[in-house]
Amino acid sequence: MRILTGLKPTGSLTLGSYLGSIKQIVEMQDEGEIILFIADLHALTVYQDPEELKKRIREFISVYLACGVDPNKCTIYLQSENEFIPCISYLLECTTYYGEASRMIQFKEKSKLNDNFSVGLLTYPILMAADILYCDADYVPVGIDQKQHVELARNIAERFNNKYGETFTLPDVKISRTGTKVADLKDPTKKMSKSDENQSGVIDLLEDLDDVRRKIMKATTDSEATIKYDMENKPGISNLLNICASIKEMSIDDIILECEGMNYGEFKSYVADIVCDRLKTIQNRYNEIKNSPELDKILDEGIKKSRDLAKAKYDLMKKNMGIIR
Ligand code: TRP
Repeated sequence: MRILTGLKPTGSLTLGSYLGSIKQIVEMQDEGEIILFIADLHALTVYQDPEELKKRIREFISVYLACGVDPNKCTIYLQSENEFIPCISYLLECTTYYGEASRMIQFKEKSKLNDNFSVGLLTYPILMAADILYCDADYVPVGIDQKQHVELARNIAERFNNKYGETFTLPDVKISRTGTKVADLKDPTKKMSKSDENQSGVIDLLEDLDDVRRKIMKATTDSEATIKYDMENKPGISNLLNICASIKEMSIDDIILECEGMNYGEFKSYVADIVCDRLKTIQNRYNEIKNSPELDKILDEGIKKSRDLAKAKYDLMKKNMGIIR
């Protein structure tokens, strides 16, 4: 089974993204052949500062590797280094109806925000179809917001196969198993998210560990003094329990057993030890890898495999469509 994951290098790399999605990818590595790429072309549908984007791309890929994505098990590459993908995307655009593309919920919502949206915003899901179809991905785990796009890819593939003969594997749309939903430490009724103005409840994966510890020690709790899981009445304590259970891969009940007799201060210190310990491992690996030739070697190998696959698919598409000498 070939599993494909695309990561847009925008948005945050927080403890929330680690426990909510990166860790899931790491766990999936033993379930099939993983193809993982940085969807840098997809980032361009809205303006990105070039220097900033360049930095983010390297940071993103390094963080994923530091979190345990294993280049011996996964093919890892940058989308923009595979020049066949936009070519494939164009051929797919000619097999996609304008109405179909303009009915995508994400397009409708984002194009409403202002009048100066790019054409790329409209064709974005077709580029995504190219990402999925060139490598005959069987399974594309995505969040609910991307489900419609994967369904579109499947429809385009089916139509192409009907018109031009068997060319693509039809990808399966599956909503990825959700990881642990981590809440903001200061306002535990909200998701931990970096775009928030108040950063005191957000833990960045690359943040200084003393600051991380300080933030956990100041996390909002409640006026009781019992360590109990109760999302409704004790969202702060429950969030901290979730974080520990997820990192240690233990049940909430077992974490509670470990913390028996602790007051809130001691419990927070226990949580801080667990989080800082894991972040230290990630950060050490990140610093090793970020500027290493190893990273370039991984990307070189990944793009070679990806280009070979894409070229073969592009040639087959052209042949089937009659664009041939
Ligand atoms: N559009 C996805 C997102 O915004 C990223 C993405 C691009 C992707 N191409 C893909 C995801 C192919 C899965 C498969 O998150």
